[in-house]
Amino acid sequence: MRTPNTVIEDARVLTADFLPNRMVHRNSQLNEIKRCLEPILDGKNPRNMLLYGPPGTGKSTMAEYVVDELQKHSSTVVWGSVNCWRYPSRFKVYYNLLQDIGVNLIHRTGTPTDELVDKFREKVSGRPSIVILDEVDQIEEERILYDFARENNIGLIMIANKETALYDVDQRIRSSLEGTKEVRFPAYPQEELVDILKDRRKWGLRKEAVDNQQLNRIASRADGDARVAINGLRIAAEEAENRDMEEITDAIVENALPQAEEENKSKSVDKLNGHQEVLYEIIKEEGEISPGELYEEYEEKVDDPKTERTRRKYLKKMDHYRLIESEGEGRWRKYRLQE
Ligand SMILES: Nc1ncnc2c1ncn2[C@@H]1O[C@H](COP(=O)(O)OP(=O)(O)OP(=O)(O)O)[C@@H](O)[C@H]1O
Ligand SMILES: [Mg+2]
Repeated sequence: MRTPNTVIEDARVLTADFLPNRMVHRNSQLNEIKRCLEPILDGKNPRNMLLYGPPGTGKSTMAEYVVDELQKHSSTVVWGSVNCWRYPSRFKVYYNLLQDIGVNLIHRTGTPTDELVDKFREKVSGRPSIVILDEVDQIEEERILYDFARENNIGLIMIANKETALYDVDQRIRSSLEGTKEVRFPAYPQEELVDILKDRRKWGLRKEAVDNQQLNRIASRADGDARVAINGLRIAAEEAENRDMEEITDAIVENALPQAEEENKSKSVDKLNGHQEVLYEIIKEEGEISPGELYEEYEEKVDDPKTERTRRKYLKKMDHYRLIESEGEGRWRKYRLQE
């Protein structure tokens, strides 16, 4: 990569996986989470949490941020994080957590899952621990939640798009999660997105590269989603940089906005698992389709169809990420792609 010079000061600050040094406009959420975890520092039991809210509202970043802060106060805290959308099976959840904890595993096919579970228990036993289950609504084996909830020294941070994400899990699992603190992450109002962008400007761009009005424009199109806003700023900055300009023009901003939305959508499509992809492609092909027809076609296309409950879970996820939309209820329901 060539050295950036005209508008970009630090390109990392404009990327989606950069961990910001502060979470703008998220103090109340930060304090709620801290209150749940703080007992850990005195050897007491933490409270489990569910962070929920629409895409791009800072949930995943906040979880990482809080653990980072906590570790500054205590070096004994053990923690691991796993994205249950990407790694939905019990084996993969434990495998990833163990890796985060620093246990080196040779991925032998055929390692029994119970062996991983035992190893994990042994590692966290009696130690203050935090387990982050991101996209928890896509977890395949929900009894994992029961396993973690039962361990008193583990602070469980679950992340989902809706507070209802776990309402229909098995009663036994639900009751083990009783007392879970729900922490809401609402979509950002436009002014708050502007403040997030100002922070990125401060650390990532040269002075004068972009003005407040332009940040406002980017924020207005991001629809409460900080990821889209930051990507919009990044795309605009890269374009100006490529053209050796010292300022981002309004035309560049206008051009960057649809690109940021498009990029966001295609990243979401990339996250779909095989079965979700099949469902998505059918809807795309048909234009508009009822659940009955959708399931019929789906069953013809895959060898190992998922249960109806799981399919509904998949469709809900695609709906949250604005890939598809649905209209009507029950047998009148229709799915189509979201424009
Ligand atoms: N309050 C904030 N201050 C600074 N940066 C933020 C804030 N909220 C979000 N961001 C940034 O916006 C991007 C999206 O945030 P994040 O990935 O945490 O969203 P999310 O709520 O987990 O979304 P999803 O539901 O799609 O997983 C990240 O790059 C993150 O750094
Ligand atoms: Mg997230």
